Order: sequence, then C-alpha cells, then structure tokens
Amino acid sequence: MSTAKETAEQLALPGIPAPAPDSDTEADWVWTEEGTDDDMESPAFSHTTVMSTEVTQALTANAAEGATFVDVTLGGGGHTEALLAAHPSARVIALDRDEVALAAARARLAAFEGRVTFVHAAFGTLKDALANLGITEVQGLCADLGVSSPQLDEASRGLSFRREGPLDMRMDQSQGETALELVERIDDDELANIIYQYGEERRSRRIARSIKRSLSEGELHTTLDLRRAVVRAVGPVRVGGVDPATRTFQALRIAVNQELGELDSLLAQVDDVIAPGGVVALISFHSLEDRAIKHAFAGREGWKPVSKKPLYPTEEEQAANTRSRSAKLRVYVREVLEMDEEEEP
Ligand SMILES: C[S@@+](CC[C@H](N)C(=O)[O-])C[C@H]1O[C@@H](n2cnc3c(N)ncnc32)[C@H](O)[C@@H]1O
Repeated sequence: MSTAKETAEQLALPGIPAPAPDSDTEADWVWTEEGTDDDMESPAFSHTTVMSTEVTQALTANAAEGATFVDVTLGGGGHTEALLAAHPSARVIALDRDEVALAAARARLAAFEGRVTFVHAAFGTLKDALANLGITEVQGLCADLGVSSPQLDEASRGLSFRREGPLDMRMDQSQGETALELVERIDDDELANIIYQYGEERRSRRIARSIKRSLSEGELHTTLDLRRAVVRAVGPVRVGGVDPATRTFQALRIAVNQELGELDSLLAQVDDVIAPGGVVALISFHSLEDRAIKHAFAGREGWKPVSKKPLYPTEEEQAANTRSRSAKLRVYVREVLEMDEEEEP
C-alpha cells in the first residue's frame, strides 16, 4: 500500500481517487460476460459508463474556455455527455467505428447539438479524421477501449458465447473480415497463435485444432458452435470462475478488430494532435492493452503520467457495475515547454 505522502505525490490533478495497488493477476483482466443474465431477451442500447468522474475531471480540471476534446470511443455516449455537461463551453469530437453506436449516441446527445460532432472512423485514423474537420489540435482525449455492453449483448454481433449469433465479431459491420472468414483463411498454427497471444490461453493448440475440425465438418457457423468446439477441446469446467470459451472469444475479437494495432496507431498519433497542457485519459480492460499504453508513454519526451500506477474504479463502482472491475485508467499530461509559453500572445 502506498503511504498518504506517496499517494499525494502521484496525484497531479484534483479529485482523482488514489490508485489501488497493482493487481495484474490473470483473473483480473479476463473479459467477462458474467452478470448480464437479466437481459438475455431484448437488450436495449444501454452501456454503463466506466470511471466517468475520473475521466471528466482529468480532462476538464485545467481546460480553458472553449476547449475541444476528442472521445475516440463514443459507444453509448457516456463520457462525451459527462464532458459536455462538466465544461459548458467545450466541444467534443466523438469517434466510433460502430454505426449503430453512433446512431444511438446521436439520439442521446441531441440536447448538445452544435457542441458535439460525430465521426464514423476507427481511432487508428484519428489525425486524418480531425484534419477532415479542419482540426489540428485538441485539449484532451479519452478512450474507453474494447466493446460496449450493447455490442456484447446483441446476439447478431457475434461477440457473446452465451447468445447464439453469426460468427461475426466486427465492431464495424460495414467492412472487414468476420471471425468466421478469419478462421477459414488462416491455418491451425496461426489460429493457435492468435488464441495464445490475444487470449493468453495455454491450451491454444488443442482449441485451434478443435475449431478447425468443426469447420471442416461443416459445424462452425455460430457463436455457440465456436463455444462447443472450445468445450470439446478443454472440457466444460470454468477456470478461475470464467467460462472456458472466454479467452478464445476475446482473442478472436481482438484479431478481427485488429485492436492492438489500432491502439498502437492511436498512441503514435497523440503527439501530433494533443496541444501542450492537454490531457490523455485511457481506460483499458486487459493487460495487453494496459501494457501497450504503459510502454508507449514510458520515458516519452514531453509527457508526464498523472500517477505512477493506474487508477481503478472505486469499490462502489465495482459493486454497481461488474464490467468495471477489470478497468484501469492511465492519465498523461502533455507538458508545456518554455518555447510554447513564449509563443503565447
Ligand atoms: C467500451 S465502449 C465505450 C463506451 C462509452 N465510453 C460510454 O461511456 O458509453 C467502446 C466503444 O469503442 C468503439 N471502438 C473500439 N475500438 C475502436 C476503434 N479502434 N476505433 C473507433 N471506435 C472503436 C466500440 O465500437 C465501442 O462502441
């Protein structure tokens, strides 16, 4: 546990709760579908925003009048709404690669018309997306990585191992390869590597062989077929309290959506789009993402982390929202160089 002095030293922004001790355990990051049984029938577009207060305070605490923020993972619009409400003169550019999410958020945020701009784009293309709007610099950026509850809950998206749907898994259903097309295209070894690397699944070879066998027998069409192939390989026993198919589904989802490549690309662009004094707040849900973020900023010139350790949701939030339990928030501030200050009028 850090002492009060250490905690105070780690926190540069007001109102951000102290980080919890690092807990990079295996079960910590595993993407979970637990706790969503209540809505198996007809999910509405509803997503509970994670660490909204912390993200909002990080971005708005020192932001000037008329600041422009970018929310690169609009989803249900929760972070964008909180930013617009907290900073009445701010404007938010809101990106999502999912057109269904954009339509739902547009309706939810109708009251903020004129202060929010919706963009259908992957955040790996952030700089171009902003340039298309004539924007070269923003004062804050937030990212809440991964999938939203509606994406997970809607069977037709193919992301749930508990709901029968096509093996799709794309966040952007207007383009790209589905999970089934990916499995058809690659060989057993490549499939095993994806399951091992992105799912951190030790039994990846056995699982990959079983999935390929289902495919060749004409028995791989839906999410439940995929789960059956995993269970045939490793048995139905829940490991660490999670379904045996959890890691395989997560791995394929990450591969289909090229999530780590997108994140690397975003992290490479922040120098180009964040103004001096601007803030980046990044919420990740598994260790692969958190590691990428930590490494991208380690020793990076011109940037300071707000705290050495990531921030975690409060106990109250974790109790109220199961999906928040694996969230980690890292906040970085772009330093104002003396030269930048001299350029001020
Ligand atoms: C966890 S949800 C965000 C929820 C949102 N912060 C809220 O409070 O309602 C993640 C969203 O990011 C989107 N997303 C994930 N990766 C993306 C990418 N590379 N580019 C653009 N959007 C992405 C997903 O489609 C999803 O809608």
